[in-house]
Amino acid sequence: MSDASDLDLSGRHLLLALSGGVACFKAAELARELGRAGATVQVVMSEAACRFITPLTMQALTGRPVVASQWEASEPNAMPHINLTRGADAMVIVPASADLIAKLAQGRADEIVSLTALARPIGGARPCPLLVAPAMNREMWAHPATQRNVRQIVADGATLLGPAAGEQACGEVGDGRMLEAVELRDAIVAFFQPKVLAGRRVLVTAGPTFEAIDPVRGITNLSSGKMGFAIARAAAEAGAAVTLVAGPVHLPTPAGVRRIDVVSAQQMHDAVLPAAAQHDLFVATAAVADWRPAEVAGQKLKKDGSGRAPALAFTENPDILAAVARLPAGQRPYCVGFAAESHDLVAHARAKRERKGVPLIVGNIGPATFGRDDNTLVLVDAQGERPLGPASKLVLARALVAEFGARLAGSQT
Ligand code: CTP
Repeated sequence: MSDASDLDLSGRHLLLALSGGVACFKAAELARELGRAGATVQVVMSEAACRFITPLTMQALTGRPVVASQWEASEPNAMPHINLTRGADAMVIVPASADLIAKLAQGRADEIVSLTALARPIGGARPCPLLVAPAMNREMWAHPATQRNVRQIVADGATLLGPAAGEQACGEVGDGRMLEAVELRDAIVAFFQPKVLAGRRVLVTAGPTFEAIDPVRGITNLSSGKMGFAIARAAAEAGAAVTLVAGPVHLPTPAGVRRIDVVSAQQMHDAVLPAAAQHDLFVATAAVADWRPAEVAGQKLKKDGSGRAPALAFTENPDILAAVARLPAGQRPYCVGFAAESHDLVAHARAKRERKGVPLIVGNIGPATFGRDDNTLVLVDAQGERPLGPASKLVLARALVAEFGARLAGSQT
């Protein structure tokens, strides 16, 4: 999840439509989140929605009068259902009740939300895409009529946001619970990202590894995993199917990303190698420990009173990136390595690119970036080097993903 201060929706104009349901309370928080992310938000509410939350609340949160009836006469042409979607970047229905989805599927227009959705431009110079966040009881969601209607609106071009599974307002547990406000905000942000990795499968490693000495101690490093998680998120936003192999970090899994948690370098190697051939792109952002204790003590090592520290012997860990880069053509994804250095960044990145046999290395100064939300990068390939940033890790991740997309498309391999 991003921070709303990323202003990811800067310049966007969104039409937020509410149909009737308990989940209307989440629409209030969403309106605020969208505004904080830089969007202007116009709200339209069905009569049923007004029974769950007042237009006054939504007006106060968005700073704009709410349209709550198709008979609204305050606009000069008295046609709010037409005006609302002209110039809007998307119409987002939050929550979408079973009844509203049925109306959309049939093209009905007997109240302001379905009427506005039907009247929105779906082609031409300024189409207004429709995003729908269902919210209903699990039996209503699972009903063949609802499933049929959902398939129909998707076939007609709507994008579904959720629903999630979990505890419902009615007390039952199952599918149909609406996504939370920040999840909806992130899904809307993702919707607007260019789909430069559509149809691609991307494998990312992230975070540090932890190499056990005994049951209570080990060696690790200061990598936070933030850059790798940002790349996984940006790749998913760009339409890729993403597998994220994460070392021990406390970061939330980006939406839609398959996560495999590992601890040691050997475990990361064993998770990555068999999966690599099923992916088009491998991005190795993990700060893999170079060595591990040759033997892991079964019990906690104790001081023996001699004043001497135990002599630890180390073994080198497998180089995961180099191993993937050595896979035969046909099984080998496009490989991108990271170089975390403390000095002489470009020279080290160049040498690493040669040594690991990969087409692209992304270099950064480790101590300057570990744990922070921003970074400065340098891209090193056969052609030379190019700086990127400074910027937030998410902004850099999106720029990298655009670069990867272009390279996979064969324009610059
Ligand atoms: N890497 C890897 N497996 C390892 C070590 C590194 O996959 N056992 C990957 C990292 O994920 C990164 C790249 O190789 O993409 C470079 O990692 P880095 O730690 O900067 O380099 P090292 O190979 O460890 O070289 P050195 O310690 O000499 O800097």
